[in-house]
Amino acid sequence: MDSKKRQLMTWLGLIVVVCFGLGSFGCGGKGFSAGSLLQAPAQGGATAPAVPSGIFMRNDLDARPRMDSATGAPRRLLQFGHLSDVHITLEQFTFTGHPKLEMMLDGFGEQIGFGGLDRPEIQERYDVDTLRAMVKTLNAARPPLDFVVNTGDAVDIGTVPELVGFLSEMNQLECPWFQVVGNHDCLGMGNIPPAMLENFTDLDFLNKQEFIQKHFPVKDLSQSRTAFGSQAKGFDFSPASSGRPSEVRGYYAFTAVPPISVGGGGPNRPGIRFYVLETSRPAGKALGHVGKDQLRWLKKEIETHPRYLALVVSHHPIERIEEGAEELRNLLLAHPQVIALVCGHDHSHRIRPFSNAQQPGRGFWQIQTSSLIDYPQQGRILEIYDRGNGTGAIRTFVFNQQAGGQLGKNARASFQSAAGEEFDGSGSAGDRNVELLFQMPVLQ
Ligand SMILES: [Fe+2]
Repeated sequence: MDSKKRQLMTWLGLIVVVCFGLGSFGCGGKGFSAGSLLQAPAQGGATAPAVPSGIFMRNDLDARPRMDSATGAPRRLLQFGHLSDVHITLEQFTFTGHPKLEMMLDGFGEQIGFGGLDRPEIQERYDVDTLRAMVKTLNAARPPLDFVVNTGDAVDIGTVPELVGFLSEMNQLECPWFQVVGNHDCLGMGNIPPAMLENFTDLDFLNKQEFIQKHFPVKDLSQSRTAFGSQAKGFDFSPASSGRPSEVRGYYAFTAVPPISVGGGGPNRPGIRFYVLETSRPAGKALGHVGKDQLRWLKKEIETHPRYLALVVSHHPIERIEEGAEELRNLLLAHPQVIALVCGHDHSHRIRPFSNAQQPGRGFWQIQTSSLIDYPQQGRILEIYDRGNGTGAIRTFVFNQQAGGQLGKNARASFQSAAGEEFDGSGSAGDRNVELLFQMPVLQ
């Protein structure tokens, strides 16, 4: 057993000890509230994300002005916020071994990793503060954001109270927001099927269907805030969604901007659609997979919406998808309207071009954003422009929370702690504040 796994085993042992020890005081697993396990966040206002001065252009895809896809005047089409890997965690648990658990974990071999279990306590204590500070910062953006997307790992250990804490803060966003299933959202510690863990602990672990269902409104649907028609953070757009928990899938699509046709031979302007993937694997392991059903669905969706730029969203980047990565990459490269894959998982800013070798100028950008629990604890703003000359641009920059008062102090304490850790997800300058050119597709 390696040191990480031993640490996990020790830690899970403590969960058992603490829960059994506190059982008579209400820490019985299924019945506890988020408040008893997550520290209540502080108060404070916030200012807008700080726009950096040095945003430089990248044209790795070799996009070039073209008359056949030119629309005339430049125009901003959309502006959205991106958060990832928030990792709200139960900060009160750590402890000693459990032989049955050790045997079970040994059964996984060396294929799984549990990075983050040795994270400083202060980052876990102020995780909800950091999220609240970030939500307030996003609310202060001007003009207001069209929406926010969180690319998975809302929670850390993978329990219901963590998700309750996450949702209570995210639902304070004043714009619509969309959710993505990360490996920590449906697997214990991002790796282990929850049913296995519930034999060894008294915690209420989330499985994938429970995670998705928690995003559906509990009261009257008509009373809930909608996001481009969605009332369940996108999950009600799932292809098999009929409201029955067992049928809702984690992948879905939505239209953010409708296309514009001027008619009479005038310019057309593309719409924008988002295709959200489910890459986490309920059977276990942190790496991703994309099944054939989902790839078929994605292909059909993109092909039946040729007048839309396509942004694909997932938790895992292509490099962290173990099964189906090549098929996914080839599918995205085969469709010129795909301009980006927006994702997280690595807790690092990284922007990488995927070029289509057969068609110069074509390809897409993979855009990864850091975590809110590890350094640099940043979110990202993305704006999509039609440059009017047959090229488009994704203008993006990263930012830290801008909260004041005790809320800002707590979030800064977490940031300072993360800054002192070895892990640094800042990436290079080209991974942060850049304008990414792409070729506008020719609309039919
Ligand atoms: Fe994560």
